Amino acid sequence: MPVLTKLLSLLTAGTMLISGAVYEAAPQHDADGLLFLVNRQYTLSASYTPEDLEMSDVPGQVRRMRPDAAAALKEMFQACKEETKCQLISISGFRSYEKQAGIYSRKLRSVRKDVAKAQEYVAPPGASEHQTGLAMDIGQKNKAHLEVSFRDTEGGKWCAENCWRFGFILRYGEGEEWESITGYKYEPWHFRYVGKEFAKAIHEANVPLETWLIDYRIKTMQDMIGRVPIAATPTDLE
Ligand code: DAL
Ligand code: ZN
Repeated sequence: MPVLTKLLSLLTAGTMLISGAVYEAAPQHDADGLLFLVNRQYTLSASYTPEDLEMSDVPGQVRRMRPDAAAALKEMFQACKEETKCQLISISGFRSYEKQAGIYSRKLRSVRKDVAKAQEYVAPPGASEHQTGLAMDIGQKNKAHLEVSFRDTEGGKWCAENCWRFGFILRYGEGEEWESITGYKYEPWHFRYVGKEFAKAIHEANVPLETWLIDYRIKTMQDMIGRVPIAATPTDLE
């Protein structure tokens, strides 16, 4: 078997092996990029803060995000208003490492230090996408916030169906298949900005970002391999 084919079959042999290879590759280490993955396995340092943050011009609170995400959020809220008459509001955008540490420790106390319970909905410091400046918790004005019932509101339904048009994805989907990969329970309110180019593809794939990134990196590697010049004597590669 040629070496390159061997490498590819090795890469597709098991998830652990794939994820090891995938996550060592960019964009995982490209914190200024848009596909940067943050979860409990791949964390941000306590000192990481996005270079630029700006206040998104939308109703609500904790409105700071990376500039592209802040502009896209405004566009998304306006479109929702025009298409449904619902007013969306921001609930929580950028959170520093320290802020997340405070939220997490209060949560831990409230569940008597049951770590698994605390982490059903709250990321430990360093593991929250909110530290990237690319995530926003969204609610509908005058409705309950940060509750699964957001899924059934007109605004919640519209966001789930249309967020990709503005470069956002619903990051923590419903059901065991999603939760076993994302590590969190269903959060119909948490949206992550990845840019329009990727959001459409991820939305259509309907899989967690973790899964999509693995497929994306394999495809990128296959394309790379396809571009490697053929050796003069293929048998040398056997
Ligand atoms: N609720 C999400 C998982 C966070 O705390 O970042
Ligand atoms: Zn969130």
